[in-house]
Amino acid sequence: MTHSHAYGEEWYWDDRYRKEQATFDWYQRYEAVAPLLRLLLRPSHRILLVGCGNSPFGEEMVNDDYEQVVNIDISSVVIRAMQSKYSHLPHLQYMKMDVRDMSAFEDNSFDAVIDKGTLDSIMCGNDSQVNATKMLKEVHRVLKERGIYIMITYGDPSYRLGLLTDLNLWNINIHVIDKIEKSPDKRAWDITKPLPLNESSSSIAELLGPKPDVHYIYVCTKDGSMRKE
Ligand SMILES: C[S@@+](CC[C@H](N)C(=O)[O-])C[C@H]1O[C@@H](n2cnc3c(N)ncnc32)[C@H](O)[C@@H]1O
Repeated sequence: MTHSHAYGEEWYWDDRYRKEQATFDWYQRYEAVAPLLRLLLRPSHRILLVGCGNSPFGEEMVNDDYEQVVNIDISSVVIRAMQSKYSHLPHLQYMKMDVRDMSAFEDNSFDAVIDKGTLDSIMCGNDSQVNATKMLKEVHRVLKERGIYIMITYGDPSYRLGLLTDLNLWNINIHVIDKIEKSPDKRAWDITKPLPLNESSSSIAELLGPKPDVHYIYVCTKDGSMRKE
């Protein structure tokens, strides 16, 4: 993702989705992250995809037996398109909503929130720290006790960890996944295993080396427990 203040703006995404109607997945496809999601989530869990865009991620979760996948995005253009495309799939729901204000959802109402590129967009925008904090507090509020926020991002711990730890809301594990999809025997990193994390996150930088070719997955648990229900 290049640095662009417009990534935080509704008009930018409306404009982009008017022009680009083909489905697109940022960073990673569902299939690549599914092995980790299957360890963390159950099919009966109520799951929220924030900033869903026109990615087929939600559809692929439903095809993989998840029963309640709610999607939100700030762009009414993309939400209308997705509502019409998936009107035949009752397990998949689309709503136009700003992740910084999810007052339409009750407290403690989701088992998991999945974010692929949305905090990243907000971090590119104006007032990024204030908006990111609003988003993270809302995500925390809508999660059930022991609910999980799964953030898939290009942002390494030196850019993202402080944001998460400053709020003191989560127990955090960090996983990595190869940027380019590789066959299982060629993968450099196992997505299912969290990396050792010390306070300064230098343990991760040392392990990965300079300019690692990975995306990061922050698995943030609401009350510090990683148990499945
Ligand atoms: C980088 S794209 C990622 C799209 C999709 N998650 C994917 O992985 O392909 C970021 C998405 O976040 C949405 N977005 C940006 N700011 C938002 C906000 N404040 N609330 C909800 N969605 C937002 C954009 O409309 C866009 O669809």
